[in-house]
Amino acid sequence: MTEMLSATPENIARAAQVIHNGGLVAFPTETVYGLGADALNVQAVARIFAAKERPAADPLIVHLSGMEQIGSVARTIPPIAEKLAKTFWPGPLTLILPKQPAVPDAVTSGLDTVAVRVPDHPVALELIRVANRPIAAPSANRFGHTSPTTAYHVWDDLRGRVDIILDGGETSVGVESTVLDISTSPPRILRPGGITREMLEAVIGAVTVLRQQRTIEEGLPSPGLLKKHYAPHSEMVLFVGENARETLIEETRAAHKAGKRVGVLALDEDMEILKTTGAVVYRLGSDESSIARRLYAGMRWLDRQGVDVILCRSLSESGLGLAILDRLVRAASRVVT
Ligand code: TXA
Ligand code: MG
Repeated sequence: MTEMLSATPENIARAAQVIHNGGLVAFPTETVYGLGADALNVQAVARIFAAKERPAADPLIVHLSGMEQIGSVARTIPPIAEKLAKTFWPGPLTLILPKQPAVPDAVTSGLDTVAVRVPDHPVALELIRVANRPIAAPSANRFGHTSPTTAYHVWDDLRGRVDIILDGGETSVGVESTVLDISTSPPRILRPGGITREMLEAVIGAVTVLRQQRTIEEGLPSPGLLKKHYAPHSEMVLFVGENARETLIEETRAAHKAGKRVGVLALDEDMEILKTTGAVVYRLGSDESSIARRLYAGMRWLDRQGVDVILCRSLSESGLGLAILDRLVRAASRVVT
């Protein structure tokens, strides 16, 4: 049985008790909703993997209510981590740190490191504080699916599999936290997210970005090799490069003519012309923060419209654009250059 509750102080206290007793609580953060359990309870952590159908080899992020809790999960805090934490916590930055033995292998998939962050959301912070436990939480979606940015998204994916969903409205950032490995020199972004490369570099100097096999610069592998993640149910096609806008419009028209129900994740500047194509259009906005905030909701909304295919085009790789492009590339079954 899953209860969906508004995030009142009383309901947060109930949810904290559920965490304390080894149960599962989905809760809002500033990025996406998390599926939380007591990070120090092996059985509770196992329930997270079961609920999401997530492979055990994919480690979880441990959420803290503040720096003062960090000693319970991390063995040492290098000066650079301290500097980053002071600047960006609470916020969408996840740091990879040497782990305390008390953190179960289930959380870290047997790694000697643990991923840690302090979320910038009053409900998340209150839940962790009242539960008085570090909370392990991946995004609260079925494995491989689009991350949830509303409580209803969580309900769609995980009802019957989680004890409580705390409804705290829409999340504000919309894409996941930046995962940063500080064990290398220079530090390396493992997953681009809410704290941009530029923001990190302003504080600690040069930062590199781990390039997955699926980047535009290095050339894309053949479609069969693409591993879908953060993905809607419909097939998704991403247009990149100089002619992305023209190709997107052309292919939208062509697919519509061929009798397909076409969905488009649209930038504001493309809205007018897309109205003439017969497509079902979801408006993402014009600036990166709006696009990031609306991206996953848009994928889910188009899925619900029963479209056969979702088309979209990329924007710049600067700022939040890097995280947006990363998610689009991973969600796409085909990238057209
Ligand atoms: O914004 C977020 O980060 C959201 C909210 C709920 O906090 N959480 C989230 O968790 O996106 P998840 O499980 O979907 O993604 C966790 C990421 C994965 O890419 C995982 O590989 C990486 O963090 N990760 C976790 N532990 C790690 C470790 N010890 N070393 C390297 N990467 C790690
Ligand atoms: Mg996830």
